[in-house]
Amino acid sequence: MPTMTTAPATTGVAVDFDAITKAFGPVQVLHGVSFSLPPGKVVGLLGENGAGKSTLMKILAGYERPSGGVLRINGQPQDLRSSRDAEALGIVLIHQEFNLAEDLSVADNIFLGHEKKKGLFLDERAIQAEAAAALAQVGLPIDPATKVRRLIVAEKQLVEIAKAIARRARLLIMDEPTATLTPGETERLFRLIAQLRADGVTIVYISHKLDEVARVTDEVVVMRDGRFVTRAATAEVTRHQMANLMVGRELADLYPPREPVPAGRAPALRVQGFDVPGWAQQASFEVRPGEILGFAGLVGAGRTELFEGLLGLRPRRGQVELAGHAVQLRSPRDAARHGLTYLSEDRKGKGLHVAFGLRQNLTLMALDQYARPWLRPEAERAALDTAVKDYGIRTGSLDVRASSLSGGNQQKLALAKVLQPHPKVVVLDEPTRGVDVGAKRDIYFLVQRLAREGLAVIVISSELMELIGLAHRVAVMRAGRIVATLPADGLTEEQLIAHATGTAHADA
Ligand SMILES: Nc1ncnc2c1ncn2[C@@H]1O[C@H](COP(=O)(O)OP(=O)(O)OP(=O)(O)O)[C@@H](O)[C@H]1O
Ligand SMILES: [Mg+2]
Repeated sequence: MPTMTTAPATTGVAVDFDAITKAFGPVQVLHGVSFSLPPGKVVGLLGENGAGKSTLMKILAGYERPSGGVLRINGQPQDLRSSRDAEALGIVLIHQEFNLAEDLSVADNIFLGHEKKKGLFLDERAIQAEAAAALAQVGLPIDPATKVRRLIVAEKQLVEIAKAIARRARLLIMDEPTATLTPGETERLFRLIAQLRADGVTIVYISHKLDEVARVTDEVVVMRDGRFVTRAATAEVTRHQMANLMVGRELADLYPPREPVPAGRAPALRVQGFDVPGWAQQASFEVRPGEILGFAGLVGAGRTELFEGLLGLRPRRGQVELAGHAVQLRSPRDAARHGLTYLSEDRKGKGLHVAFGLRQNLTLMALDQYARPWLRPEAERAALDTAVKDYGIRTGSLDVRASSLSGGNQQKLALAKVLQPHPKVVVLDEPTRGVDVGAKRDIYFLVQRLAREGLAVIVISSELMELIGLAHRVAVMRAGRIVATLPADGLTEEQLIAHATGTAHADA
């Protein structure tokens, strides 16, 4: 019976970055980064979207080669030519944007490139058993034979982690590991990190969730604009200081002051007795022009699926009215024509066409505007210029594929895209996932501006503080039902959790 526990502490991996530079074509992304990672410590890597965190870590894990500078592992200069070279040194990167083969099984993904052989043949039984053990360690009780395509986002994240564990990493890089996890899954991951650390594994933890960074790391390193800024013992900096160091200035209030919802306007969207079989039952809610309605709930409560049903992406029944007219939306494109757009939580899978350019992505949903009577490239170009300014999308060049934007900047592009067709109602599913604190604040102020301009906004979020800070009312879903709809003023996280988990005295 193979065991998946890491070998007892021998050597943690020590890393020195010495004047590392990286350019993609004419775009200089890293400008001589120097710092070291001590063995056996958990180091938080902080920085704004586009600061160069993922790029530096891809260099460490052999996915990218530096343009200049020296990378030393345990004192030895290294020239890593592939992720295999890095893995041979015990260095494994868990990708921010998942890197799984969708059509292969979970077990095959875990061992991809490391297939176990028995003579000439793959040792299927060993593969299944080891995969099951790695999955158990991350707390994902699924059949290793399941195709990755069938997993939800959080499960894919856990498979990525299981894959790294099965490779017996001595230096593990986690790039936004909890972005899609529930609080329970996050706790389990933290226990796993503590265990790996006790085994002497060096861990780099990249996250925009500063409360997690404060909890789980020993030290933080801050990068800004492709440069090393500072490092500090985690215990010696407050979250507020971390945020200021990241953005390089004093951050003002995160949330805009709440503005009243204009009185006397009919609902922009009204949903009654709406069912998405298997996911949501008897959902009824409405949102008025100028109103921000939050949707809270645990992962799996059915929030995303409810709205996917609304957009015609899942079988559904029930009544939907947009601006007082009954509609049956057949597809996201059809919904956009009726004035409702949706920002998917699965930015890479359903949100963006990452192999396409920025312009194509931006204008895809609003094709009617740009293709009348034929495609007008200059209008597209102007739209991109405006969007880059309005949404603060940071990129070295406008002529790149969406895949080369940093994670947070992809999120901003996705947001710009759903607002292109000038909707009357917009549904934003996890709009600030992977976004840095400064950009989060920008998004909150943007959402509020949209509401002030008369848009009805629905925000689905796992960050309860975000809903409380931003929304007028918060609907809570549990096991497919809306169990409470509460005014956000005076609402606490504890109250929301109580409704989401079913421990509130009475759902209101
Ligand atoms: N293949 C590429 N081609 C061109 N530019 C790239 C490529 N990969 C990354 N970049 C650019 O490098 C910069 C740094 O990106 P990186 O992904 O390292 O940022 P990050 O700090 O991880 O940000 P985030 O917090 O948003 O994930 C960004 O401006 C990005 O657009
Ligand atoms: Mg990144």
